[in-house]
Amino acid sequence: MPSADRAPNTDYAIETRNVTKTFKGFTAVDDVSLKVRHGTIHALIGPNGAGKSTMFNLITKFLEPTSGSIHLDGRDITRDKPAQIARAGAVRSFQISSVFPNLTLLENIRVALQRRMGNSYHFWESQARLDVLNEDARRILAEVGLDDSESVLASELPYGRKRLLELATTLAMEPRVMLLDEPMAGMGTGDVARVANIIRKVSQGRTVLMVEHNLNVVADLSDRITVLQQGSVLAEGTYEEVSTNRQVRSAYMGESDD
Ligand SMILES: Nc1ncnc2c1ncn2[C@@H]1O[C@H](COP(=O)(O)OP(=O)(O)O)[C@@H](O)[C@H]1O
Ligand SMILES: [Mg+2]
Repeated sequence: MPSADRAPNTDYAIETRNVTKTFKGFTAVDDVSLKVRHGTIHALIGPNGAGKSTMFNLITKFLEPTSGSIHLDGRDITRDKPAQIARAGAVRSFQISSVFPNLTLLENIRVALQRRMGNSYHFWESQARLDVLNEDARRILAEVGLDDSESVLASELPYGRKRLLELATTLAMEPRVMLLDEPMAGMGTGDVARVANIIRKVSQGRTVLMVEHNLNVVADLSDRITVLQQGSVLAEGTYEEVSTNRQVRSAYMGESDD
């Protein structure tokens, strides 16, 4: 029987209710009510300093809100610790690199799989158990198209493929909710298209909240978009809706990273 904890009991995988975060009197996030529906790809966009990273930090509990509440599958997580959020199935990628440079790709995924299983290394002593882990690790590498490089050291990967490996270590945690912080940052066009395809594929059966500056990617992938400006929600809707919003257009004027 599935535990009540993991069963969705609202329409929303992630919901913030009137969340405000101030830093020494400066309001970085201002009364934000964000609703991310189960099984959707939802993008959080906005100019630099809009509060996107602060929102991610609030949702993953690396920051405490000054006021308001945060809910995961309808459960109030406002007072939970980051580790509890990860265990509840919400995993963040790309911000903090989860890749060990001196391990091979296969070893990196195995470490992530073992982390998911609670670090009970002794449990894996038997060769049969280790083989099962290898099978899982290879399947995950194949999901991101890195199965041709399982014996390569992570440090030897070019940048785009390193980010694919980060995505793979996140997948190894079997997240129900993935928070992707600028998955395309620093990537060339070829890698962007590739990562976009992979995000679309791995979003099946999952919820994805992503901060991304590349508006072509946002347009292509997102079911819904929330636009933040100076800590507040400026607009919310489909790409069609937000991209034709005049306030959104003016907020983006002069932005060079799009
Ligand atoms: N720890 C902090 N202390 C003080 N100010 C902060 C802190 N974190 C973020 N800010 C400020 O809050 C605002 C929003 O920052 P951030 O969430 O990083 O924006 P974004 O990710 O959208 O670029 C910025 O003005 C930033 O300088
Ligand atoms: Mg940021």
